[in-house]
Amino acid sequence: MATNDDSWVLITGASSGFGEEFARQYAAKGHPLVLVARRLDRLQALAESLHRKYGVKVVVEQVNLSDVAAVTGLHARLRDRAIAVDILINNAGHGLQGPFLDTQIDGALDMVQLDIASLTAMTRLFGQDMRGRGRGKILLVASLLAYYGVENMAVYGAAKAYVLRLGDALHREFKRDGVTVTSLCPGMSDTGFAQAAKQKITFALKLLMMKPEPVVRAGIRALHAGRMSVVPGFNNKAAAAMVWATPRWLHQAIFARIMNG
Ligand SMILES: NC(=O)c1ccc[n+]([C@@H]2O[C@H](COP(=O)([O-])OP(=O)(O)OC[C@H]3O[C@@H](n4cnc5c(N)ncnc54)[C@H](OP(=O)(O)O)[C@@H]3O)[C@@H](O)[C@H]2O)c1
Repeated sequence: MATNDDSWVLITGASSGFGEEFARQYAAKGHPLVLVARRLDRLQALAESLHRKYGVKVVVEQVNLSDVAAVTGLHARLRDRAIAVDILINNAGHGLQGPFLDTQIDGALDMVQLDIASLTAMTRLFGQDMRGRGRGKILLVASLLAYYGVENMAVYGAAKAYVLRLGDALHREFKRDGVTVTSLCPGMSDTGFAQAAKQKITFALKLLMMKPEPVVRAGIRALHAGRMSVVPGFNNKAAAAMVWATPRWLHQAIFARIMNG
C-alpha cells in the first residue's frame, strides 16, 4: 500500500543540515511533519516558516536521542496524539574526528548511542506500527564512510557501516510487510556536520563537498522508488566504485589522505 501526501513524516535531526532540507522538501510536497532534535528554537523557527509557506501541520519534539529511553517517550507521545508516522527519516547523527586513543570516551559512546542505538530503537518502534498498517517508508542516513574504515574517524565509520548493514537486511525483511527501508550514503556535504565533528576540511574535501539539496532529493527519490540504498553525486559514486575495484590497503590509504590531509 502506498503512502500519500497526507502521510506524516518524522525527521530526526531536523534543526540543521540534511534534516532541515528533508523538512523543506517534504513540506513542499504537502506532508505534515514531526521535527525532532535538541535545539528547540531552531525547530520552532523552521516549523513556523514551513507552516506559513506551505500550510502544512508541523509538530516539534525536543528530544535528546543520545538517551535511548527518550525514543520510547517520543513514540508514546505521538501515539497519544494519534499521529501515525508513515515516513521515518532516521537522520540525526554526528561524527567525531581524532585519534581513537586520544578522543574522549564519553564523546565516542554518545555517538554510538545516537548513531546506532537510537536509530535502531526508532526503526523498531515505528517499523512495528508500519507493519500493523501494512505500509511505510524508512530512510536510514548512513555515509560513504560506511564502505571503508578511515583513520581518525574509526568509531563514526564503524557506526555508519552498522547503519548500512542494518538497512540492507531490513530492506528485505520489511518488504514482505509493505514497508520500504532505504539507506542514503552521502559523502562530504555542506551542513553543520564538520563543525560538530571537529572535522578538518581538507582541500580535497572542499572539492568534493555537496550541498544538502541534491543529497536529500536523491534520498527521497530512492526511498519512494523502493531502492535498497543510494550514494548521491557522481564523485561519491566513483568513490564507492573504487572500494569494489581496488584492494583495501590502497583505497584506505587514499581515503585517509583525503580525510586527514
Ligand atoms: N554532512 C556530511 O558531510 C555527512 C556525510 C555523510 C553522512 N552524514 C550524516 O548525515 C546526518 C545529518 O547530519 P548533517 O550533515 O545534516 O549534520 P548537522 O547539520 O550537524 O545536523 C545534525 C542533526 O542531528 C541532530 N542531533 C545531533 N545530536 C543529536 C541528539 N543527541 N539528539 C537529537 N538530535 C541530535 C542535530 O540537532 P541538535 O543539535 O539541535 O540536536 C542536527 O539537527 C548524520 O547522520 C550524519 O552522520 C553527514
